[in-house]
Amino acid sequence: MPHRPSRPIILTGDRTTGALHLGHYVGSLRSRVELQHTHEQYVLLADTQALTDNASDPGKVRNSVLEVALDYLAVGIDPALSTICLQSALPALAELTVLYLNFVSVARLERNPTIKDEIQARGFGRDIPAGFLCYPAAQAADITAFKATLVPVGEDQAPIIEQTNELVRRLNRQVGRDLLPEAKALIPSIGRLPGVDGKAKMSKSQGNAIPLSASDAEIDAAVQRMYTDPNHLRASDPGQVEGNIVFTYLDAFAPNAEEIAELKAHYRRGGLGDMVLKRRLAEILKATIAPIRKRRAALARDPDSIMDILRAGAQRGRVVTESTKAELIDGLGVFRLLSAAPTAHTAHS
Ligand code: TRP
Repeated sequence: MPHRPSRPIILTGDRTTGALHLGHYVGSLRSRVELQHTHEQYVLLADTQALTDNASDPGKVRNSVLEVALDYLAVGIDPALSTICLQSALPALAELTVLYLNFVSVARLERNPTIKDEIQARGFGRDIPAGFLCYPAAQAADITAFKATLVPVGEDQAPIIEQTNELVRRLNRQVGRDLLPEAKALIPSIGRLPGVDGKAKMSKSQGNAIPLSASDAEIDAAVQRMYTDPNHLRASDPGQVEGNIVFTYLDAFAPNAEEIAELKAHYRRGGLGDMVLKRRLAEILKATIAPIRKRRAALARDPDSIMDILRAGAQRGRVVTESTKAELIDGLGVFRLLSAAPTAHTAHS
């Protein structure tokens, strides 16, 4: 990859806990394909972070690395334009994490709204894995190791970026200069794609997701399941567009906004049946997924070439993250004892 230091640096990534779905496509994958042309983009396969709440299922974390990598490549993340990095293959990230943990308090980690919500949602209480509690510091290590200034993440991750910047200021104060840049969260304007059951979030574990490898029949079945307006009983009745997730999906995926505006007007007026509407959505989703599924299947036939891509990405990632680590330990004046040139003192002894 050509070195393009003038481009703003992006770090983004996903925990490797399963293949990606349409929610990821809308929320992040689609924009990564665009951003790679204008930014220096690093995409992290976050297997180390995935383990922080999946310690009892390391096989899932490991096997998902290839699945997520296939998803990346299938949607058009291009290894010639973006660097795909496997987190566990970059030891500097782990070393920086250990370093950063000295600059953050347990109280501050527990106050992080993302962590607080997740402790609540999963019922961890005090039995929270220490690695999970500390993942904001680990993610700060990820972000700063690449000196990323832009971090595309979902809204729920904004407090992690805020905490990253606190750590950046704290570390820079310790070093005495602005060694690390602060980062900005890049939150998608389209918002979150709901599950096919209408629940706020599409999630594989909730069983309401459409995977990027979905067949036409699976897409039909998923669209069939979607709730529309419960009061729209006959096609001739006027229907409600707000809160009707078929329209939410049409807004997210339809290539032609004008067509959707017309469908909405027709639906509100009455005379547009749910079946017809759903058939149109299914068509659009199939057109979106078909090329991805095809590319994904072709790539999956050659896992060795995927491993080559991951190896090359790790190599590039290592250069960047090791360089930041070296700057930081130099700046802090720690951990350099044995790597320094032998002094008179050591020479004598
Ligand atoms: N925490 C992110 C998520 O759950 C994944 C992630 C790990 C990440 N390291 C990152 C995202 C660094 C952006 C930057 O989606």
